[in-house]
Amino acid sequence: MTNPPSPNTPPVLRVEDLVIHYETARGPVQAVNGVSFQIEAGQRFGLVGESGCGKSTLVTAFLRMTKPPGVIKAGAVYLGDVELMSLRKDEMRRMRWNEIALIPQGAMNSLNPVVRVKDQLRDVIEVHRPRHWARREMDEFIVGLLDRVELQPHVADLYPHQLSGGMKQRVCIAMATALNPRLIIADEPTSALDVVTQRAVMQMLTAVQDEVGASLILIGHDMGLVAQVVDRLAVMYAGKVAELGTVHQIYKEPLHPYTQLLLSSLPSPRERRPRRSITGLPPALINPPQGCLFHPRCPQAMDICKHTAPTYREVDGGHFVACHLYDESMTQIVLQQGAFKPGTFKKEAR
Ligand SMILES: Nc1ncnc2c1ncn2[C@@H]1O[C@H](COP(=O)(O)OP(=O)(O)OP(=O)(O)O)[C@@H](O)[C@H]1O
Ligand code: SF4
Ligand SMILES: [Mg+2]
Repeated sequence: MTNPPSPNTPPVLRVEDLVIHYETARGPVQAVNGVSFQIEAGQRFGLVGESGCGKSTLVTAFLRMTKPPGVIKAGAVYLGDVELMSLRKDEMRRMRWNEIALIPQGAMNSLNPVVRVKDQLRDVIEVHRPRHWARREMDEFIVGLLDRVELQPHVADLYPHQLSGGMKQRVCIAMATALNPRLIIADEPTSALDVVTQRAVMQMLTAVQDEVGASLILIGHDMGLVAQVVDRLAVMYAGKVAELGTVHQIYKEPLHPYTQLLLSSLPSPRERRPRRSITGLPPALINPPQGCLFHPRCPQAMDICKHTAPTYREVDGGHFVACHLYDESMTQIVLQQGAFKPGTFKKEAR
């Protein structure tokens, strides 16, 4: 785990009410619908949630790499003091790779199969940090980058088709971290790898992050794997953050019924307990239902959930949730009705 940031250090990233739609012929797909959070210097931040909940759409927008029909409709993203959404194109280009770098989902499949590893690395470096590099100086720099991701110097002369999946992913990490960015975003960096290689790549990624002194956003489906690596975790559902807190807060006291179900669906080596699955499907993000988007699947759903969307708010130091069960007025009403005792339903739901 990383050291806690000093209280005087500004956040590395601050996302404010970001909204992203895909404008399709059938109507707008509301892929990201009012997301806010921040990441401190050196922090490791996890983003988890079911397929299609908007994780990749969200982080791609941080680099202004959203492709049509995707449109960033509203919100702000600050990298330090700089608001990225309002930068000119050339200013944004200078930020990419130098300050904020993305290892996109499926990155290892997008390496050019007919270009040697060293030439692909050289292209990235020369485009984003243009200056005169003597050939020998560049070769040494590339060997250093490969060494940082635990690859032998001869890999520089190979083509991607000569590399294993784990080696290709290491090349992608070397590329994204070549210019020592302040923020590294890794979108499901290990999902196509076997379990042993997954762990090795994850360890190497965090070692490189430490060496560079960057913050990390790690995206994954596997909440267990992500939680082993990160300090804080955001659980996304249908384009919104359902819950956000430290790994300790989320594991010890998950607040949102969706988080509780996600955790109870994980295998536990210590406890013998039945694993629960989440019934139903996530809502279509074209014309999503009214109220809380989780209500059709939620075992705790109340009448209010069907017509009023819950507010996302902080319920404990740094622990945020969007659920009516934690509205102050609602807690009172439900307590009076005797239908909900704080602290007990959470254990029942797990
Ligand atoms: N080009 C597109 N046109 C229309 N809809 C899109 C497009 N790309 C993504 N979407 C929709 O936007 C939503 C969010 O997609 P996104 O890829 O961000 O999800 P994700 O959480 O990264 O999923 P996964 O875990 O499968 O990678 C989904 O409902 C998806 O169908
Ligand atoms: S707001 Fe209602 S439906 Fe949504 S998660 Fe909370 S209890 Fe369930
Ligand atoms: Mg994705």
